[in-house]
This record gives sequence, C-alpha cells and structure tokens, in this order.
Amino acid sequence: MTKFQRHAMMPEAAHDDHARMGFTSALIKHLDAGVRPMLRPVYEQAVAPRLRASLGRDPTRHDIARAMTSVDGNRYWSTLRTDAQEMMYRSAEPMVDRQLPALITRAKKLSGRGLGSLQLDPILQVPRYLRAVDTHRLPGGYHSEVADDDVRAGAVFEESITMYSMGNLGTNNDDPGQSIARWLKSRYPTLRPRRILDMGCTIGHYTLPYVQVFPEAEVYAIDVAAPCLRFAHARANALGFAVHFSQQDAEATTFADGSFDLVTSRILLHEMSRRSVPGMLRECHRLLRAGGLMLHVDAPLFDELDAYQASLRHWDAIANNEPFMATVYDLPLERLYADAGFPRSKMFRAWIESDLRRRTNYDPRASRSGGRFFAVGAFKAD
Ligand SMILES: C[S@@+](CC[C@H](N)C(=O)[O-])C[C@H]1O[C@@H](n2cnc3c(N)ncnc32)[C@H](O)[C@@H]1O
Repeated sequence: MTKFQRHAMMPEAAHDDHARMGFTSALIKHLDAGVRPMLRPVYEQAVAPRLRASLGRDPTRHDIARAMTSVDGNRYWSTLRTDAQEMMYRSAEPMVDRQLPALITRAKKLSGRGLGSLQLDPILQVPRYLRAVDTHRLPGGYHSEVADDDVRAGAVFEESITMYSMGNLGTNNDDPGQSIARWLKSRYPTLRPRRILDMGCTIGHYTLPYVQVFPEAEVYAIDVAAPCLRFAHARANALGFAVHFSQQDAEATTFADGSFDLVTSRILLHEMSRRSVPGMLRECHRLLRAGGLMLHVDAPLFDELDAYQASLRHWDAIANNEPFMATVYDLPLERLYADAGFPRSKMFRAWIESDLRRRTNYDPRASRSGGRFFAVGAFKAD
C-alpha cells in the first residue's frame, strides 16, 4: 500500500473540499513538474549567451536570478506559482475551520490514549525568524493559535503537504522519514540507537518512521510550534506510535548532555536564520553521547548544483517567504560542523533515495526532491 490514507486526526473532506484541493494539487504539479523545467532551455538558449557577453564571465546564481526576472515566461510562472501556494492553504482552511472544535476534542481524546507524551512550554519564545514572516505563505506560520488547545496549524499543514506532494508521500505521508531511517539502518548496521531526537518535527510525520525502523529506541521530537505539536501527539496516537513530543527551541533544549545516540532533522536548516544554525549545531553536539550521530537532511547545498539550479532558490526567498533559502545552502556547513566540535574525519554527505521511488513506479519528475534526499552527517568523537 503506497497511496496516502486519511487518518483520525484529519478533518472529513466533503465533495467541494476534494474538488478545491484536487485542483490546487494538479495546478502545483503542472507548474513545478510541467512548466518550470521548460524555463531552463529558455535560459540556456536566450538569456545565458547575452549574460555571458555582457558580464565577460560565467553568470553567478545571483546574476541568473536577476536576469530571469525579466523573462516573460518566468514572470508568468512566478505569479501563478505564488497564487497556487496561497490557494493550497486557502483550499484546506475552510474544511479545517468548519471542523476545528471537533478536531480539538478528538485530539484530546486521542492524546489520552497514553502513547508517548506531550510537553508544552507556554512561555517559550518562538524565534523571530519564524514570527517575522508567514513562512512559505502559511498564514500565521506554524505557531499561531486561534483557539484554546488549538491544532489548526497542524491540520492545515498536513493537508498542504498532501496537496504539495500530490499524495506521493506514502500511506502515512512519511516517505522521506521512512527512506532516511531505513537508509541509516542499512548503512550503519552497528548504530542501534537507544534514544533518538528529531528536531523541527512539525506534525511528527517523519518522526514516526524512526519508531518503526528502530523499535528498541525511545523517540523524542521537538518543535517550537504548540498547535503542530498537539496535532503531532494526537496523530501519533491515532496511528499507534509512541513519541515524546516537547515544545523546545533546537538552539537550547532542556535535555541533559549526552542524552541521544542520534539527533536528526529534515528541512529545519533552511527555515532557521543563518545566525541561529551554528547554535543549533552546538546543541546537537552537546546532546549526543560520544560516538553518536547527527544527521541533517535538506535541499542540496549550492556546491552540489549548477548556477542555474541554485538560482531557482531565489524565488523561494523572494516570493515564497523563505528568506534564508537563497543563502543557507551557501553556508560552509562542514566548517560549522567542525566549529561545533565534530571531527572532519567523521563527516559525510549522502544522497538518500526515496523508498517509495525504489518500490513503486513513482515519477521522480513529479516531486521537487526528484525522489532523493540530501543529507550532511557527522559522528561525535568517541
Ligand atoms: C519545514 S518544517 C519541517 C517539518 C518536517 N521535519 C519535514 O521534514 O517536513 C520546519 C519546522 O521547524 C520548526 N522550527 C524552526 N525553527 C526551530 C527551532 N529553533 N527549534 C525547533 N523547531 C524549529 C518549525 O516550527 C517547523 O515546524
């Protein structure tokens, strides 16, 4: 079974909800997988020769991003894609809002099943880089609350990733988590983690596979966003998984030194400010036992891409409220890992193939990740 299945923490989708969400999902697929790739030949044939001639050198990603803003096709794409991003949330919100009181009640009931735990910190400061913008145009971001015991942001987020991925994330919307956890187990058979921490877990959809793949481990997950964490804990209970969720800042957690064998994150780096990343890496180092593993999975660093591919991230930064996307992939990540205390000899980069892509006829062109995930890891010194 690979097709996504709605679970007990998702609102019921009526005919009109399906119609709205289905249209938005198809529009995003068309724009990302159909239209955007057609712009590369336009760049190569019409824009690049002119740019090279006027600059007298190869254009950088900055030059390319700037030049492409005056290409009509790219402007149309950008306008439509920005609208489609907002439509994604607007398609889900009426359905979630209609059923919010029932979802809150259901979350309390499911959390009462007692699998794992949930610890919220009402005085935790959500970092400014998350409060200052509606990240990737999600209204109110991950953290805003509209009701007591709110789960709205979590519910809208899960609907949006379902649309965004066109249902291509597997039964539990968890393919990246499954792929990464299974890759870790086969690549490092002696790892056998007893305690695992997932940082920036949102609704815990990629945390749950760690429970499946490492059944002997206690699994912990943190995020700063309370409505997502409430949703995550209820969701985990609905699906039968024990995870200890807590509301904490990845830069300064309350866990004791050496608490974990594995500390991981997925697409947390690019949402943090450049200034906050080194603090998070130092915290990972503190939290790991000697010989433990830190693994951060995100989009590829710019030195893995050509200048045109890297220039595409400028759209996310400028139009999609992901301010650090145009710069974070330029970070000297390995140097920052070293500054945080990890030995250079214990660092690695990896491309992890999607489990779903390997097992099914999933079309990698239909996803932005291309069916593989980029990771930079490091073991703490023994
Ligand atoms: C893009 S989501 C990633 C969700 C999930 N890991 C995934 O791969 O889809 C980033 C999450 O990181 C959280 N986050 C950002 N900065 C954080 C911080 N300093 N500490 C903990 N969580 C943070 C956000 O609230 C958000 O839920």
